[in-house]
Amino acid sequence: MPNLDELRRSHPDIAEDFTIPQRWDHYTVAEHAVWQTLFEHQSKILPGRACHEFLDGLAKLGLAPDRIPDLERLSDKLEKETGWRVVAVPSLVPDAVFFDHLAARRFPAGRFIRKPEQLDYIEEPDIFHDVFGHVPMLVHPMFADYMQAYGKGGQRALAEFNALKNLARLYWYTVEFGLIATSHGLRIYGSGIVSSRAESVYAVESPSPDRIGFELERVMRTDYRIDDFQDCYFVIESFEALLAETTKDFAALYARLAAGPTYRPGEIIPGDRVMTRGSHSYRPGSHAA
Ligand code: PHE
Ligand code: FE
Repeated sequence: MPNLDELRRSHPDIAEDFTIPQRWDHYTVAEHAVWQTLFEHQSKILPGRACHEFLDGLAKLGLAPDRIPDLERLSDKLEKETGWRVVAVPSLVPDAVFFDHLAARRFPAGRFIRKPEQLDYIEEPDIFHDVFGHVPMLVHPMFADYMQAYGKGGQRALAEFNALKNLARLYWYTVEFGLIATSHGLRIYGSGIVSSRAESVYAVESPSPDRIGFELERVMRTDYRIDDFQDCYFVIESFEALLAETTKDFAALYARLAAGPTYRPGEIIPGDRVMTRGSHSYRPGSHAA
């Protein structure tokens, strides 16, 4: 992770809090076209797959399909809903900086957009992932509170506990790759899924991955992969339940986590509430031995 001085070389206008001006007028026609391709594709395939909270949030934001959004204007709209704003950053920022932004209800978004040849997978979050993927859920009051609580929890985990790895897994399996059980079936709320053309189908329809009922300690013990589709997803019952579980004091939990085992993705353990047992056909060998 580059520090502020290193980033200054490529971003002379970077601020102490790692934000940079979006410079919206610098996006090229080709870059806006990448946004449009992704936006139109996802808008078509997400109804019936993403949860209604995401789809409602997306509708409320009123994003134009054909151009990268201006973050200031988007923030003015979002702020009226839940008090959140979106700020531009060069790419991934240090954990402490990320937590401080979330705790202040500011969502840091990558300024760049992926190249046309990266439509299907990028590891580094770009503005399509960060804005299309994350911001609609920030319109939902309870999820907006969850994200801020996560930021405050991160500050505390850094200052008092050595538990960033556990906390990062919670973020990964909820904010990024979460599924929710609804009366119409499983739906997506995770930003990493909704912003991915292929994974937004795979996550809810493929027989390959495991889908397991969310259990906080279990999730915080489970490794994840960042380079390909997930082998397992965790399914929450409701956003109320997620918030109720996670706003408890984690001190005792962190102490337990430090001692116990770590699970691999694709591993099923006793006590799991398995909703769909994956075939693991997408990645043979990812079943636990
Ligand atoms: N409850 C956590 C703590 O005590 C903070 C937290 C809230 C973490 C919500 C993640 C999500 O530190
Ligand atoms: Fe993300």
